[in-house]
Amino acid sequence: MRFIAVLLSLLFVAQSAAETIAVIGTGRVGSALGTELAAEGHTIVYGSRDPTTEAVRDLVARTGDGTTARLQSKAVAGADIVILAVPGMLAGDITKNLGDLSGKIVIDPTNPLNFTAEGVSHGVPTSNGEIIQAAAPDAFVVKAFNVLSWEYMIDPARSGGPISIPLAGNDETAKARVAEIVASLDLHPIDLGPIDHSRWIEGMAILLIHNNFTPLPAFNFHLREVQ
Ligand SMILES: NC(=O)c1ccc[n+]([C@@H]2O[C@H](COP(=O)([O-])OP(=O)(O)OC[C@H]3O[C@@H](n4cnc5c(N)ncnc54)[C@H](OP(=O)(O)O)[C@@H]3O)[C@@H](O)[C@H]2O)c1
Repeated sequence: MRFIAVLLSLLFVAQSAAETIAVIGTGRVGSALGTELAAEGHTIVYGSRDPTTEAVRDLVARTGDGTTARLQSKAVAGADIVILAVPGMLAGDITKNLGDLSGKIVIDPTNPLNFTAEGVSHGVPTSNGEIIQAAAPDAFVVKAFNVLSWEYMIDPARSGGPISIPLAGNDETAKARVAEIVASLDLHPIDLGPIDHSRWIEGMAILLIHNNFTPLPAFNFHLREVQ
């Protein structure tokens, strides 16, 4: 009897952890997170400007059973969680165009990159985390994944050690759920506070990217929590 009760509770936990996730944008980050989260049992709905292209159809097939692709504003309708894997300088407008996101967790991996002759700078006066939260005031926005290149989202082990993913968000429950999702991908979540701390987290991404667009030496870094 006790065995059956344990089995049932495990089934319940597994079911409640599997959600429908709308991944908006089918580029490098969208593809990496979509395929990895599908492998964890989530149902993925890609949101694309054109869900009929061969590239999007290939991605849907690669992501696996139950995956679909729809127009961006349609993809969010039945989703519990929305991932905004879109160009950073457009993220606020794209969020507004998605329609009502009330009650949904919105994961923001974007970086507002301003390309200039001198390299790359932070392209907004505040942060995309705050801009997206303002564009969807009744959603629970959590900044995550923006300091990690897409290759490491697929294969964190290639870094040679644990990778911490900084999170920022105003809702503790949403942040805890995103932390679970991060951990399910063999990454280590680290809470950096409220959504306005996205400014510093986006600054970390600018630091990481800037030299690639200058004659200065390129480099990589991974956050690792002090043990
Ligand atoms: N590349 C990385 O390793 C990395 C790592 C961490 C964070 N980020 C950040 O994550 C975000 C996505 O990066 P990415 O490398 O995946 O970019 P990407 O490969 O260029 O993909 C972005 C996707 O957004 C959609 N999109 C493009 N223009 C759009 C528009 N005008 N309106 C609506 N949707 C549009 C497209 O999907 P559809 O064609 O299907 O519409 C496109 O494939 C960026 O903000 C970036 O800074 C990137």
